[in-house]
Amino acid sequence: MDSMLTRIKDLATKLAPRLIEIRRHIHSHPELSGQEYQTAAFVAGVLSSSGLHVREGVGKTGVMGELLGVTEDGGILAIRTDMDALPIQERTGLEYTSRTEGVMHACGHDVHTTVGLGTAMVLAQVVEELGGKVRFLFQPAEEIAQGASWMVKDGAMDNVSAVLGVHVFPSIPAGSIGVRYGALTAAADDLEIKIIGESGHGARPHEAVDAIWIASQVVTALQQAISRTQNPLRPVVLSIGKISGGRAPNVIADQVQLLGTVRSLHPETRANLPNWIENIVANVCHSFGARYQVNYRQGVPSVQNDYTLTQLLQSAAEEAWSSDHVQVLPEPSLGAEDFSVYLDHAPGSMFRLGVGYTDRIINHPLHHPEFEVDESAIITGVVTMAYAAYKYWQPENRVDFNI
Ligand code: NI
Repeated sequence: MDSMLTRIKDLATKLAPRLIEIRRHIHSHPELSGQEYQTAAFVAGVLSSSGLHVREGVGKTGVMGELLGVTEDGGILAIRTDMDALPIQERTGLEYTSRTEGVMHACGHDVHTTVGLGTAMVLAQVVEELGGKVRFLFQPAEEIAQGASWMVKDGAMDNVSAVLGVHVFPSIPAGSIGVRYGALTAAADDLEIKIIGESGHGARPHEAVDAIWIASQVVTALQQAISRTQNPLRPVVLSIGKISGGRAPNVIADQVQLLGTVRSLHPETRANLPNWIENIVANVCHSFGARYQVNYRQGVPSVQNDYTLTQLLQSAAEEAWSSDHVQVLPEPSLGAEDFSVYLDHAPGSMFRLGVGYTDRIINHPLHHPEFEVDESAIITGVVTMAYAAYKYWQPENRVDFNI
């Protein structure tokens, strides 16, 4: 085994009790997106006492910590973890359960923050072996898909050559990780459609323009058109999640509002979606005499993992844990993740950290009130991240990164 890997593993193992304590502290004090004040102060304290240069209040409640390697010539490797929790009432019954009513770390961002801190603590002790600077980004507000933009606007990606990220995954057992080449998550856009008809008596529909009937035609047309006019090898998912309109049982509705989410993987497909949707809405509405408005708001883009950096994560994890513990994920997710915002500024790769209990039949999914993690995964995450960061500057990788 590489001697540096042995050193990193030893350091991480020694830190394990402290890291579990840190994770439980963060878990029992969850904070919602954009309100991560206590978490940020805690993170800043741990980073400072580990010898990092710390900047607080980055993009509101974000924290940046920097470790200088032996030279600055190697550029900056960013390691991003997110810190926010969800508006969910925890029902795990754990002794370190959330102490905040209605708020829970149900997406594992407490684990991500801990992995980020653990990686910083380990790398701070081997800093003379690093070929460049490591910048830790502790990001707020991932769940509302805004924190990454806040951080980037405040300089988080300035001079960064590459960025690594991690997200827990309950369907992969603890002790293993998943890597994915190419698309990891989808672009997630918001859709609002208004159908404007004309009100009238429910008994005389021919004298009115029924916005409810036309809205239902629009929903049906959109769903059918996906299967007939979108390339089936380039997935598009359009879900209308809210529909509202109408006043009374015997009054024809003059307005209906449809709210939905649109997911896609390919940038070109995504670019065409606003026009594609508007055409369908326009044609249905024109056919039946209604007017319409379509508001298509672009959310976060798809996470597209860089090939070389994914290879770096895969080889670091395979050396650390053997190839049996590294899954190359065959499929992307149509979920969204604002890690993609960093990828507009530098290549990057995010891996999935297995947190499933191997001895349980059910591992509850992310965002579930009983979601739990096998905490042994924290060390898997820290070692994988720290060793990948070290390897980033090793000669066999350097050529590819163009730094
Ligand atoms: Ni998450």
